[in-house]
Amino acid sequence: MKQVVLTGIKPTGILHIGNYFGAIKPGIELANNPDYDCYYFIADYHALNIIKDKQTLKDNTFEMAASWLACGIDPKRVVFYQQSKVPEVTELNWLLSNVTSKGLMNRAHAYKAMVEKAEANGDDPDAYVNMGLFNYPILMAADILLFNTKLVPIGQDQKQHVEMARDIAKAFNKRYGYTFVVPQDLISEGVGLIPGTDGQNKMSKSHNNIIPIFATEQELKKLISAIKTDSSLPTEPKSTDCALFNLYKLFATEEQRAAMAKRYAEGISWADAKAALFELINNYLSPMREKYNYYKAHPEVVKQILAEGSQRARAVAKETIKRARLAMGLD
Ligand code: ADP
Ligand code: TRP
Repeated sequence: MKQVVLTGIKPTGILHIGNYFGAIKPGIELANNPDYDCYYFIADYHALNIIKDKQTLKDNTFEMAASWLACGIDPKRVVFYQQSKVPEVTELNWLLSNVTSKGLMNRAHAYKAMVEKAEANGDDPDAYVNMGLFNYPILMAADILLFNTKLVPIGQDQKQHVEMARDIAKAFNKRYGYTFVVPQDLISEGVGLIPGTDGQNKMSKSHNNIIPIFATEQELKKLISAIKTDSSLPTEPKSTDCALFNLYKLFATEEQRAAMAKRYAEGISWADAKAALFELINNYLSPMREKYNYYKAHPEVVKQILAEGSQRARAVAKETIKRARLAMGLD
């Protein structure tokens, strides 16, 4: 039996190379492994809590789907779908709500952070909390349990949510008999954090130090030339412990990496180092950029892929719902 791997991608704006190496590339590698059945989806129900503008939600959902496809998700191998097109998610959300204690939800980091923020501002503790935020972990458990998921690839920040999904699956199985596979998280430690263009150790939208995956050539050149470097003279030896070399390493082969380290030791100018980085990244990203431009120009292709994926997902989801309803005495 193949193991099911599932993960949700929140449709929040543009992707950067930290996302690519931290989440997208490992996701694509898992999907290429014949031991796994992969389900990847755009988590638009979850995004309702953050994105309140109708058109922005639509645009972001399309953008994220086009981006993942351009990065190399193969919709034949992966069931690639839009969460809200599988409404069984919300039915399971309700069923699971009835085996989930409020106490478990009270412990969620995201909820607690909002309460602390309100308290610090002297507001009512629940002033910034709507039920979408409070119930977020149950909806996520529904996503996961609906597809008999074993492995959930996620970043460290989502670990608690997968633990909650485990608790909810166990609570259900205990009360109603074995119904759900108990999932576990899969946190890839391979690449670690990708540094930002300002030298901070994390590239992040919120730090304003990103290189978007689909930046144009000109934008890419500009971003790379703005990467912070030290003040050593052009002919002086350079340390490879810098953002520029760390970024180079990500895209380079072993040989390219060794050759560049040698040039650093011999004293490459920062201008030449930046030009080499630009060329390397641009060569790597340009086929992806082309695919991205294709999908942007053909939204109907993306929509068709998502529609087919959502249909495949629903077929599995319906079976799980049937099982859960029977177990609970609804049917
Ligand atoms: P951001 O910090 O830019 O808002 P997200 O929190 O939306 O990015 O991250 C989405 C995914 O990309 C997560 O799985 C996260 O682990 C990964 N990721 C984000 N930034 C980095 C980074 N600098 N290095 C490695 N992985 C990252
Ligand atoms: N909450 C996840 C995030 O913020 C997205 C997500 C929704 C998800 N449902 C999921 C991730 C199910 C893994 C499994 O990134």
